[in-house]
Amino acid sequence: MTVTSGPIGIFDSGVGGLTVLKALRERMPGEQYIYLGDTARLPYGTKTEDTVRRYALNAAAHLNRHQVKLLVVACNTASSFALNEVAAASPVPVVGVVQPGVRAALVTDAKRIGVIGTEGTIRSAAYQESLAQLGPAVEVRAVPCPLFVPLAEEGWGDHPVTDQVARHYLTPLLEWRAGALILACTHYPLLRTSLRRVVGPDVHLVDSASAVADTVASEHAELVDTSHGKEGDVHIQLTDASDRFLRIATAILGHKPDHIEVVDI
Ligand code: DGL
Repeated sequence: MTVTSGPIGIFDSGVGGLTVLKALRERMPGEQYIYLGDTARLPYGTKTEDTVRRYALNAAAHLNRHQVKLLVVACNTASSFALNEVAAASPVPVVGVVQPGVRAALVTDAKRIGVIGTEGTIRSAAYQESLAQLGPAVEVRAVPCPLFVPLAEEGWGDHPVTDQVARHYLTPLLEWRAGALILACTHYPLLRTSLRRVVGPDVHLVDSASAVADTVASEHAELVDTSHGKEGDVHIQLTDASDRFLRIATAILGHKPDHIEVVDI
């Protein structure tokens, strides 16, 4: 039976998935949302496939217990390692970030696409395989950028240290003349100012948040309300409370989030 009521569930390892929540809310403001940030176990990006899979299944089971009608796996590492398993274990439709991000990169018409993400995301080859399938004529290079997550968490999205680190990671992709870079990590859009400075004006920086919102609205139109009436509630749950979460969440959402609850999943 299709569930048409209940909130949309979103999960990420931490704060970065709020960029996806924000895009979903812009597209479907009347929906109710429940966001789970697994801050106690962050980062996922440096962990093994088995561990990320276990965490992702845990998080999905938790949200399913809250009667969500659709689940968005906003974490790129979890989407890359565990989307199929989460979908198989969930009674509701599950949307990941890999395919929407790949489709958004392909519409730029870039012939050379760079993928940057956590060590886990790049090692999983999920983006590389999806690009090979959906854009077989495109050349792809994938580079892990492990220092980007702590820089984003530090709020250094526009900072000389981030510029320097970005130059280190991205110079090979720029020398190879990448036309688009997929920001295959929830945190990387938070570094956009520094990244733009380093890559210059001509490289497309593709962030999957709005592509995910489009996917949910178009592929699950029967489940969601896209009308722009009264705003639905947003409930944020974290596995560990932190001031850092609040600070970055406020910067992403443009206001201090209300209804934050600490949960044990
Ligand atoms: N949410 C993770 C991702 O998108 C980044 C942070 C982490 O490593 O947990 O891959």
